[in-house]
Amino acid sequence: MIKLTARYFGAAFIFAMAIGVSGTAQADDARDRAAGAAVAQELCSGCHIVAEGQSGPVPDGPAPFPVIAERPGRTVGYLQAYLSAPTPPMPHVPLSKREIDSVIAYIRSFAD
Ligand code: HEC
Repeated sequence: MIKLTARYFGAAFIFAMAIGVSGTAQADDARDRAAGAAVAQELCSGCHIVAEGQSGPVPDGPAPFPVIAERPGRTVGYLQAYLSAPTPPMPHVPLSKREIDSVIAYIRSFAD
């Protein structure tokens, strides 16, 4: 799990270097996605498949993040509302605004 997270940070870092770390929107996006990947690994991967190739069992029911990203209407606004309030059957996972934004950037990256 730690190795996987390190890989995402590594990939985001290389991506950020490649386009120049000058505060460009793309670099910000890459940083958000990397932070979101870390949040997903830590807080979501017990129930959701959060990346292609994730190993380890998850319960039946919760959709993998790549599947959620492809469902119609899973906009940033929808995901913000979903993650900000208790929304059964998913138990509420308390997240900071920053964690919500980054994990949404990460989920949405599967729809690109
Ligand atoms: C204890 C198990 C559990 C954990 C932990 C969990 N989820 Fe869920 N999640 C569910 C269940 C159950 C559903 C409802 C089934 C579905 O929509 O696929 C769900 C649904 C969702 C949905 C809505 C899917 C949709 O299309 O409407 C999103 C988005 C989501 N989870 C994101 C997250 C994120 C982000 C985290 C980590 C911060 C997380 N979940 C952690 C169980 C969990």
